[in-house]
Amino acid sequence: MEPQERQDEAQQVQKLERARIYEEEFSVNIPSEERPLFHLPARIGWMNDPNGFSYYQGRYHLFYQYYPYEPKWGPMHWAHAVSDDLLMWEHLPCALAPDQPYDDFGCFSGSGLELADGTHMLMYTGVSNTGRKPDGTHSDRQVQCLAFGDGHNYTKYDANPVIADDLLPEGLTIEHFRDPKIWQEADGSFACVVGACSESGDGKILKYTSADGLKWEFACIYASNDDRFGTMWECPDTFELDGKQVLLVSPQDMLAQGDEFASGNGTLALIGHVDKTTGSFVEESCHAIDYGIDFYATQTTCAPDGRRIMVAWMQNWDTISMANNVSWFGQVAIPRELSVKDDRLLQQPVRELEALRSNHVHYERVRVEGERVFRGVHGRAVDLSVRVHPVEDAAEYREFAIWFAQDERFHSSIRFKPANSELKLNRKHSGLRRDVVHHRKCTVIDYENELKLRIILDRFSVEIFVGEGEQTLAMCIPTDLSADGICFFADGEALIDIDKYDLSSAHTRL
Ligand code: FRU
Repeated sequence: MEPQERQDEAQQVQKLERARIYEEEFSVNIPSEERPLFHLPARIGWMNDPNGFSYYQGRYHLFYQYYPYEPKWGPMHWAHAVSDDLLMWEHLPCALAPDQPYDDFGCFSGSGLELADGTHMLMYTGVSNTGRKPDGTHSDRQVQCLAFGDGHNYTKYDANPVIADDLLPEGLTIEHFRDPKIWQEADGSFACVVGACSESGDGKILKYTSADGLKWEFACIYASNDDRFGTMWECPDTFELDGKQVLLVSPQDMLAQGDEFASGNGTLALIGHVDKTTGSFVEESCHAIDYGIDFYATQTTCAPDGRRIMVAWMQNWDTISMANNVSWFGQVAIPRELSVKDDRLLQQPVRELEALRSNHVHYERVRVEGERVFRGVHGRAVDLSVRVHPVEDAAEYREFAIWFAQDERFHSSIRFKPANSELKLNRKHSGLRRDVVHHRKCTVIDYENELKLRIILDRFSVEIFVGEGEQTLAMCIPTDLSADGICFFADGEALIDIDKYDLSSAHTRL
């Protein structure tokens, strides 16, 4: 071995080993009461996008963007966790560290799949700093790379990068070229989509193909933002579902559009089909994926039973100042089962959640006027379904609300106004000490007399599924766990049905 090669190899082992030793030593000191029960949190330090979500050798594997040493973004590693049911996660040692010349600024987001020979293949973006531009800002090079492993240890491909400058169409910049989502076609060949951006800041999704997964060629510009939704489109994912082609992206720098899209980093589901001659995506409709505050960087995988399951980072790039003085920051949203109906993505928490339920409490056609609490309906890890109707022959209620994570001082809420179908999520009084986004609202689609909500609380977060899952709202809350009240409120009279379960996780291994 040449001295340079020996040095490279030593560096690779060092950075990864250092992260593995650090996480092993310090993560055990984080009290389990400070963790969610069934959402995957950062093992220690910082988490952003979920990566490499795949079913490999009989278990779900989920990696994520990771900086173990501090609860803030730093040179990106890939952390690694496994699960049998998508809810109880076990951390495995850190999988990738930024230890090569082509990725020493970070191993950015990417995806994974199981190969026919039993190898776990990861495709990720390697980022290196190429110096400074005349204005003093950093200049990055983002290229697509491979790593192969056995579900525990991963070795970077020695011919990395496999997709670089020479395969980037003219007019696009190597500084914003990331987040490959790889899949295998029925004939065994490989394809991936990668987020890209024109010199002028317009997002594109590029498609590449490969016969063997190692040697890639540019196939087509799969989709274009055309300056509509933000700038760069990050974290693309595309798949066929219920007879439609779906494209999920996470646009940066959005401008608010009514209540459909908020400013900042957003999420976008595009529903359409693939043009058979060009191979490009043809958009038929689009909408936001989630209407809450904390939801970004979605990624899906296919379960062995055929379900398409989506995860996301349950955080918001504009509120990361909440990461002050914590030992871990960032969690993955509850895995959601997807379907497409009437050109919309429907989302439901994975059905595995039902196995965590206990203590069923049921109320039917109970009247709420002003504030009302119900015996047995409280808690910070609950699955709560509520159906709300106007009282027959009475005037329509003006507003209905549920307060949760509540005590005398704190609460968060979801409020609904039937007059304009406005549904508003609010954490202004959740005990959050930062001046960040505290509320979001959306217009409930096709509201007719019945509001149906399923509310999943898991200690420091809430995820709300509206109707059949046509709309969802995710939000993190910092409120102390002793605030476990749930209170119902109607301005006017409302008739409600309640189904409430406690959720427990006897087998959490974090
Ligand atoms: C999205 C993102 C990705 C990138 C990663 C870096 O949140 O910006 O585009 O790969 O985070 O950590």
